[in-house]
Amino acid sequence: MASLNLTSITPQPTGFTWNNNSYRNPTIFIPRKRHVSVTLATSSPETNSPTTTEKPEIELEFIGPNPGNDGSYPVDKAKAISGEKLLRNIMLDNKIELYAAYGKVMNCGGGGSCGTCIVEIVDGKDLLNERTNTERRYLKKKPESWRLACQTIVGNKENSGKVVVQRLPQWKNA
Ligand code: FES
Repeated sequence: MASLNLTSITPQPTGFTWNNNSYRNPTIFIPRKRHVSVTLATSSPETNSPTTTEKPEIELEFIGPNPGNDGSYPVDKAKAISGEKLLRNIMLDNKIELYAAYGKVMNCGGGGSCGTCIVEIVDGKDLLNERTNTERRYLKKKPESWRLACQTIVGNKENSGKVVVQRLPQWKNA
């Protein structure tokens, strides 16, 4: 904070008086000095910024189920603060396609009751939560690497790294 001492001048009416037979004009103001102390807030980043600790991040890559014209599979990328979001929300926030045709119109909105938000974790499964009971029920006969995106928490608030996700593994064109 910086402090300034300013002097303000406040006009004071003098009134009019008769003095030695002279007349003082009442419209004349005689300024009177008054000291004013003003405190200014400064926003110096060096002095005021609290010590910010960066939250760990998870990098994500999403591989599409079908190759493009050049034969390579499309890859979308996103980042998320560790432990703050579900995989489903990260995909929807980044406009990364999650659902197949049926799931697009019939999904449960992330409630864990439709089983249409299936993804495969190709790499980085240790950065995610364990399969939930809902997933065990819906994915009983599916590969261990398959998850329901609405049940999958990305990161645990402390870890960081990279997760590679296969979108729509049930429709993957190998
Ligand atoms: S969105 Fe319905 S189970 Fe995931």
